Amino acid sequence: MTEAAKQDGPIPDVPMFDYRAQLKPLRAQMLAAIDRVLDSGTLILGGEVEAFERAFAEAHGGGHAVGVNSGTDALVIAFLALGVQPGDEIVTVANTAVPTVSAIRMVGAMPVFVDVDPRTALMDLEQVAAALGKRTKVVVPVHLYGNMVDVDRLRTVVAGRGIAIVEDCAQAQGATLRGRPAGTFGDIAAYSFYPTKNLGAYGDGGACLTRDAQLAERLRSHRMYGFAGAYYAERDGINSRLDPIQAAILGVKLPHLPQWVERRRALAALYDRSLPPHVPRVVAAADVAHGYHLYVVRVADRDRVRDELRARGVMTGVHYPHAIHRMRAYAALPGAQQSLPHSEALAREVLSLPMWPELGEDAVQRVAAAVAAVVR
Ligand SMILES: Cc1ncc(COP(=O)(O)O)c(C=O)c1O
Repeated sequence: MTEAAKQDGPIPDVPMFDYRAQLKPLRAQMLAAIDRVLDSGTLILGGEVEAFERAFAEAHGGGHAVGVNSGTDALVIAFLALGVQPGDEIVTVANTAVPTVSAIRMVGAMPVFVDVDPRTALMDLEQVAAALGKRTKVVVPVHLYGNMVDVDRLRTVVAGRGIAIVEDCAQAQGATLRGRPAGTFGDIAAYSFYPTKNLGAYGDGGACLTRDAQLAERLRSHRMYGFAGAYYAERDGINSRLDPIQAAILGVKLPHLPQWVERRRALAALYDRSLPPHVPRVVAAADVAHGYHLYVVRVADRDRVRDELRARGVMTGVHYPHAIHRMRAYAALPGAQQSLPHSEALAREVLSLPMWPELGEDAVQRVAAAVAAVVR
């Protein structure tokens, strides 16, 4: 038995995700980068984090990147930097990952949910205007699965009301809208480097991106106790800093991101061609070059389909099985009882198929054949 198999059990025939294939060609460079950090004499922030922040901002056409401990913290710190106060309202969607909403709650704000377009699974911009109120401080469009909300259009909906836009880019690295990268449209963008993401660390990590130098300074202050200068708190803050070892690893990986995303697109196109036509897909929005963090179809009878796919050696995921306004944690919120029919239907039906850049074409075809065999 191999070392990996001893630790993690036998590798399934087609797993949902496997970072080890990507590790192989980059291992020597990553170990050298980690060594550099160990020898540097700086284990918190410092040159490695700054170098990655510069490279990450440059990869997005400029601005300021601020490395933090996770995508969740990137959202929390973005809200703090924008001056969100307890009781303020933040408009978002209920079919996202829980952290989009837990971050809103961590700053004491109230999530206000709008439904999504059932074809793209993205925020329905037609519904946003009606959700805005006197206390609305921020709208968070979630670029779910690597698909992208039209943030330019959203900007026109919120215009003139002093409402900020924080793009949740956790799943959207490498996606573009009319040729512009996700994260360059809003006031601040929040990224996650969770290991499965299009650009993943080897542990937790995240970043904020903004073009506004003053906001960047506030983000930096909030991620470190609210400091302005040594041992002096100018504002409330937390401790959430991108680890230099993770920054060094991410610096090795970043130049490969465009080609990895291209590969995801090629695999998605192969899924498009190979899956039977009666299986509906969640589709790319207009003008979007999708980043395909996830490739998502819809099936009724999902539990049975998953079981039968597993029996054929095909692992799948569900992103996500519960609409957030229906979760116990949020039962006391005003929006808990509202009806969001498309978000709720997606929660019942979405199914994510295996997707990562090193996945082979043969594996995609095998998955598609298994789906054809089990989806009625
Ligand atoms: C849409 C979305 N937002 C936020 C997050 C939070 O990121 P993290 O897990 O790095 O805290 C994630 C990742 O899980 C996500 O998918």
